[in-house]
Amino acid sequence: MNEPDTRTIYMDHAATTPVDPRVVQAMLPFWTIHYGNASSIYSLGRQANQAMEEARRTVAAVLNCDAKEVIFTSCGTESDNLALRGVAFDRRQRAKKNHIITSSIEHHAIGHTVEQLVKQFGFEATFLPVDRYGAVDPGDVERAIRPDTAIISVMYANNEVGAIEPIAEVGAVARRRGIPFHTDAVQAGGQLSLDVQALNVDLLALSAHKFYGPKGVGLLYVRRGTRLLPAQTGGSQERGRRAGTENVPYIVGMAAALELAQAERTAEGARLGRLRDRLVSSLLARIPDAELTGHPAQRLPGHASLLIRGVEAQSVLIALDLAGVAASSGSACASGAPTPSHVLTALGFDPTDALGALRLTLGKENTEADVDFVVAKLPEIVERMRGNG
Ligand SMILES: Cc1ncc(COP(=O)(O)O)c(C=O)c1O
Repeated sequence: MNEPDTRTIYMDHAATTPVDPRVVQAMLPFWTIHYGNASSIYSLGRQANQAMEEARRTVAAVLNCDAKEVIFTSCGTESDNLALRGVAFDRRQRAKKNHIITSSIEHHAIGHTVEQLVKQFGFEATFLPVDRYGAVDPGDVERAIRPDTAIISVMYANNEVGAIEPIAEVGAVARRRGIPFHTDAVQAGGQLSLDVQALNVDLLALSAHKFYGPKGVGLLYVRRGTRLLPAQTGGSQERGRRAGTENVPYIVGMAAALELAQAERTAEGARLGRLRDRLVSSLLARIPDAELTGHPAQRLPGHASLLIRGVEAQSVLIALDLAGVAASSGSACASGAPTPSHVLTALGFDPTDALGALRLTLGKENTEADVDFVVAKLPEIVERMRGNG
């Protein structure tokens, strides 16, 4: 494989993050030395099991929950699927609950799962609106509740516009009405407090690769007493809630990454917030007809998202890549034709304008010099694309 390109300025940390070298070190022994199956009774197996249970306690300390309430999964998507399908099917079977409440700006791991539950399994769903900044109104959640509501699912922070949702308030509404409340905290992991008691959540999904851990491992917090139908059946791993041999090295890595991220969160968040503000204000000052998407303050610290009118983000991203900058957009390019993001249209942006959505997400390795480089390059690129350069 080629050496990594050292000239690349990586500003797509919402997509994924590099694994912290300390996390790699923590994982290494679990491939070739402590490689036992965590279910085996001999000492190799018991060592693996101990490491996994230690990881579970580490995670539980961050989440302020009991270790037994943590289920390890293969990714954030699986955690979201297990939460939604698991609770929806269980509540339908036991209590004839057939209605799901979610927001209109969820990641597809939630949005497409709800759509499938509606189209293929006969559930009904309410997709809550959001305001211009991407915030859900807890009053809307309350008004959407029906006698047959099975589950409420609202994300903690949005992946496209960085908006932080009023999770504790939504959770208070759900608790008052006795309805299980799930939050997709994949983007918040490592950046915001994950105290499930303060957040009033019954289920919470995380994915390690968003906080400098490995890809392909996640977790689902499930509050004691919240029942769910397992999606994956087989062995009795994860207390019968998720069958399959546990990926011990990745689980160890995820716990190490989460602990580090939480320990460094306050200082790093403040640093990223300053870099992000410098990036946003400098770009808005230099690019005419551009605006910030998402809330100016209620947003993830490293998250900058802009709408640049009169350009197609896909072309801007290619030009940025040629200049050595890795960034992202809000629109998916399916079969060659860019489609506007469901998030930006839910925020009320014009679908054509939404094609100019750009997302720059900062992380640990980014410096002021990186920000200044993008501030120098991006306005030039936009000018050229608009045909003025
Ligand atoms: C908000 C949100 N939820 C869920 C996911 C899916 O996580 P994973 O990549 O671990 O499946 C992502 C990934 O981008 C995300 O941003």
